[in-house]
Amino acid sequence: MAQKTENMMEKDIQEVLFSEEQLQEIVERIGRQISEDYRDKKLLMVSILKGSVVFMADLMRAITIPCRIDFMAVSSYGSGTKTSGVVKIIKDLDIPLEGYDLLLVEDILDSGMTLSYIMEILQSRGPRSIRICTLFDKPERRQAEVDATYVGTQVPDAFIVGYGLDYDEKYRNLPYVGVLKPQVYGG
Ligand code: IMP
Ligand code: MG
Repeated sequence: MAQKTENMMEKDIQEVLFSEEQLQEIVERIGRQISEDYRDKKLLMVSILKGSVVFMADLMRAITIPCRIDFMAVSSYGSGTKTSGVVKIIKDLDIPLEGYDLLLVEDILDSGMTLSYIMEILQSRGPRSIRICTLFDKPERRQAEVDATYVGTQVPDAFIVGYGLDYDEKYRNLPYVGVLKPQVYGG
């Protein structure tokens, strides 16, 4: 087999928190749980762009019941590492929500500002139910009152990248999740 080329983003990573294998285990566990819980429901998975795309792509294939997918994009962070508190819809859903059991798929639940705002908007469109599924949770950073039904794992209050998570739109394509070296963002 051909040798893997060196990953050029590796030098910016202080510490690997979750390997590809660990992430896969987490995803499979959540996928099994969702497949059970939504067996008699009309599941619509909504990926919050862009951070959740990698998680979404793996999670939907770990789900063994029929489901539909849609995408929504909001802005909350700009290029910094702290929330701005400003949340704006950039891309809305295509599917009308009546009768669906919505599952919002997020990469990481931090202050909760983004999801609490999205929940409010989507609730008003009359879905049968709404729940949140997040790969990572930073509970001690919560400002808004939101809770995820499905949580991959809690993470410490460090800025992490990879597996969809970015810093300034970079590092999303790292196959594992790591802590970014503070000097990369001037911390
Ligand atoms: P919240 O509104 O503060 O909960 O922001 C959630 C969003 O902030 C996530 O969807 C991420 O895009 C971003 N975010 C929060 N923490 C991190 C992190 O450690 N690394 C990368 N993105 C993060
Ligand atoms: Mg995001």
